[in-house]
Amino acid sequence: MEFPLSFGVAVVRWPFRDPHHAPLHFADCSCTWLCSFGVDRHLLARVCRRATRALMAAEKFAGRVAVITGGAGGIGCALARAFLRRGARVALADLDSEALDRALADLRGIGGEVVGVVTDVTSRESTRQLAEEVRRHFGAVHVVCNNAGVAVFGPLREARHEDWEFTMAVNFWGVVHGIETFLPWLIEQGAGGHIVNTASMAGLVGMEWLGIYSASKFAVVGLSEALYRELKPLGIGVSVLCPMMVDTRINENSVRLRPAALRAPGAEPVVPPAGAMQGSVIAPAEVAERVVRGIERGDFYILTHPEQRAILRRRAERLDRMFDPDLW
Ligand SMILES: NC(=O)c1ccc[n+]([C@@H]2O[C@H](COP(=O)([O-])OP(=O)(O)OC[C@H]3O[C@@H](n4cnc5c(N)ncnc54)[C@H](O)[C@@H]3O)[C@@H](O)[C@H]2O)c1
Repeated sequence: MEFPLSFGVAVVRWPFRDPHHAPLHFADCSCTWLCSFGVDRHLLARVCRRATRALMAAEKFAGRVAVITGGAGGIGCALARAFLRRGARVALADLDSEALDRALADLRGIGGEVVGVVTDVTSRESTRQLAEEVRRHFGAVHVVCNNAGVAVFGPLREARHEDWEFTMAVNFWGVVHGIETFLPWLIEQGAGGHIVNTASMAGLVGMEWLGIYSASKFAVVGLSEALYRELKPLGIGVSVLCPMMVDTRINENSVRLRPAALRAPGAEPVVPPAGAMQGSVIAPAEVAERVVRGIERGDFYILTHPEQRAILRRRAERLDRMFDPDLW
């Protein structure tokens, strides 16, 4: 017996006023009652679960307000496109005002509501002003993507103090400022929501030539794990995005946007040697689809490349080996 999706939605919706509070297992409870009318229990459970997920997924984006830092290009702009297509309203924040204008012109072609706010995530005050703009335009916030980031390459023995300061200011403090600014608002709103912090595969495995970048991204993974546990009881989701290589202009942007005060005197920007970076390069749009799915499913880790599996397994095995009795 086939049931239309809308029937499943109706079954799952009742008696919850807010579908975000409808537990998935409610579908099973509904089944017990409907089965007394001779309806196949397993089929009905499947239909109801699918309907619940579709309903919850739709309501994660439609009409919701998403704030995306580093939204003028690359992964951030792809996230904006994916969210707008699902009916979200979007605030794009970026330091690069020209790139922001170009992104807005492009995104407005999709339809929906999108605003741009020139923001420097390294500044707490600038991030606070971003929140004020979001409040003025939309009056609410539901999805916060702390995504702005820069990359600095080179062996740690050659790192300048300015490299550390520049990288940590954007990649670590940018995320902290986003959380400090938007989390109290999400909690006060009491309507759930989701925070996505962009880290990197370099935040899960230390990599040669990416020592400073890895340190900043490990920090993002660590704080995100803690945040996930703390916010779960409040109904606010947290994900950490950990991609390998994505086809963006991050290297050029990181050189171009580096403040003069944080340029090491006499130092030339370093490009990694061929072979230092392994794995396939994927499009930002593919990353964005994985983020959408991660938010919909409430995943904590959002991974993007199949080759990550073997690398992460090797790391886990190295840790696990330390418990072998002869080593312990
Ligand atoms: N491209 C990759 O291979 C890759 C891999 C793993 C993780 N990441 C991470 O993804 C995120 C997005 O990077 P991307 O690859 O799309 O690069 P990108 O350069 O296209 O996007 C980053 C954006 O951040 C903006 N930005 C830089 N400093 C800023 C600041 N102080 N305040 C506000 N905005 C600022 C830039 O103008 C740019 O638009 C970063 O956090 C990056 O570390 C990228």
